[in-house]
Amino acid sequence: MKILVTGGAGYVGSFAVRYLVRTGQEVVVLDNLCQGHRGAVDEKLLVVGDIADTELVGRLLDEHRIEAVMHFAAATNVAESVEDPRYHYRNNTANTLGLLETMIDHDVRKIVFSSTAATYGATDEMPLREDAPKNPVCPYGYSKLAIEWMIQVFSHAYGLSYAILRYFNASGAAEDGSHGEWHKPETHLIPLIIEAVQGKRDRVEIYGSDYETKDGTCLRDYVHVEDLAQAHEIAITTCPEPGSTPGGRIMNIGTGGGNTVLEVVEAVEGVTGKKVPYTITGRRPGDPARLVASNDRLLELGWKPRFPNIEDVVRTAWEWHCKHPNGYDD
Ligand code: UFG
Repeated sequence: MKILVTGGAGYVGSFAVRYLVRTGQEVVVLDNLCQGHRGAVDEKLLVVGDIADTELVGRLLDEHRIEAVMHFAAATNVAESVEDPRYHYRNNTANTLGLLETMIDHDVRKIVFSSTAATYGATDEMPLREDAPKNPVCPYGYSKLAIEWMIQVFSHAYGLSYAILRYFNASGAAEDGSHGEWHKPETHLIPLIIEAVQGKRDRVEIYGSDYETKDGTCLRDYVHVEDLAQAHEIAITTCPEPGSTPGGRIMNIGTGGGNTVLEVVEAVEGVTGKKVPYTITGRRPGDPARLVASNDRLLELGWKPRFPNIEDVVRTAWEWHCKHPNGYDD
């Protein structure tokens, strides 16, 4: 299949691109390199540009005879979305509307969309089934939920077929240490803990210890980025043909288990043999107490996660950070 991958030089996108190429798909990557890295993707596949440039998108769809779009490009920083929601609605929701319109106009009617567990927000149901109530607690979650709705109504109206994938906490790095997680600025827990162990920061701040979890710190479902990549290949190859009814699937991607922040600290100490310097501070706005996936839908399609334990996830992340102290900046 010929697939346009938006945001394919970013963290999850670049792992999906490598997985797709390995499994024989033809890929064109469109990335504005605002968060993505040249070093994360084969230069031959990369077109540097923005999804907001609908003329460019239309040209790529036509010139490469694209059959499906995998749409990763987005702003994903939860705290930033609380401070600057208009950026998230513009970059995520409005630009995706433009992308969907361009796809319809150019007769490309298949999409795999990167959604998020942040669409659920605060709810008592755990693990979260895909039909659980949606109460996002941050604008980021709303910006993605709005896209999910657009995709579904576009499916009814224009025959768009889809897989909507709700990621839980993407983590880890390639087993061979060649690719990994590198954000600027870094806000994600595992790389921050590793940087603290490496002495690159004084300590990690743990955001809140008064949540309703076993040790009071937030519980998350850390899913390995290679397992996420595998899920994308399953999603695209099982996506219905355009015009089908139903038009698609919504699927969580998570391990079905969860770890608290303190358990992640412990896992890093176990893998590295070093103490993690940390202090406990106040809650971070936009953080729900617990997010754990029910992953039955994906398992039914044959998904076999290879890194179900937090220790394995942390080990790959640690190896990447040791091999690449400057990430993709080398
Ligand atoms: N945390 C800390 N200290 C830090 C950073 C994070 O205590 O310095 C905590 C957070 O409060 C949270 C957990 O560690 O409880 C994980 O935080 P991350 O920032 O690594 O990840 P999030 O859960 O906030 O968000 C991630 C993605 C989102 C996605 C979400 C879905 O970044 O895009 O997972 O679960 F929506």
